[in-house]
Amino acid sequence: MDVPQIRPAVRSDDDALSVLDRAVWSTLHAVTPRPEPPYGLFFDERHPPGEFLVAEAAEGVVGYIRIGRPTPLVSNAHVRQIQGLAVQERARGRGVGRALLRAGALHARNQGARRLTLRVLGHNTAARQLYASEGFVVEGVAREEFLLDGAYVDDVFMALPLA
Ligand SMILES: CC(C)(COP(=O)(O)OP(=O)(O)OC[C@H]1O[C@@H](n2cnc3c(N)ncnc32)[C@H](O)[C@@H]1OP(=O)(O)O)[C@@H](O)C(=O)NCCC(=O)NCCS
Repeated sequence: MDVPQIRPAVRSDDDALSVLDRAVWSTLHAVTPRPEPPYGLFFDERHPPGEFLVAEAAEGVVGYIRIGRPTPLVSNAHVRQIQGLAVQERARGRGVGRALLRAGALHARNQGARRLTLRVLGHNTAARQLYASEGFVVEGVAREEFLLDGAYVDDVFMALPLA
C-alpha cells in the first residue's frame, strides 16, 4: 500500500465510507448493533462531511476520523471530540490510524480548540495504545458502562490538551 493522503471528506465519499464502516464493525469499538440492510447514508444532517477527514490510498478510501463538537453550547466551543476513527483491516499496522489522529488534532487546533477528547472502550487495546502514544491521558472511567457480547465493558474518557 502506498502512503495514504489525508484530506477533508466530500459528499461523494459516502459510499466508500458506508462500506468501510460496515466492514470494520466490531464490539471492540462499536456500542450500536451490527448494521442491517437497508443501509442509510453515511452522511446526514448530524454527520456532515465537514466533520470528517479521510485517508485515501491508490485503492481508495482506507480510513477516516470524525472530529465533532461534544455539545453545541457556546461555553463548550473550545472543545472538539473524536467521534469516530477507523482504518480498513487490510490497511492496519502501517501508520494510517496515527496519521489520521495527527491530522485530526491539527484540524481541531486550526478550529481554535484548546482540548481534544474521546471515549474508547476499555478492551480496545490497539486504540488505547495509539491514543496514549500521541499524548492523550485518561481523565475518567465509567465502569461497566456497556454490555457487549455478554460482558460488561468500561468506557474510558481521554483528552489531549491542544493549547
Ligand atoms: C485503532 C485503529 C484505528 C488503529 O489503526 P492503524 O492504522 O492500525 O494504527 P497505526 O498503524 O497507525 O498504529 C499506531 C499505534 O497504534 C497501536 N496499535 C495499532 N494496532 C495495535 C494492535 N493490534 N495492538 C496493540 N497496539 C496497536 C500501536 O501503539 C501503534 O504504534 P506502533 O506501530 O508504533 O506500535 C484500527 O485498529 C481500527 O480501525 N480499529 C477499529 C476501530 C477502532 O477501534 N477505532 C477506535 C474507536 S475509539
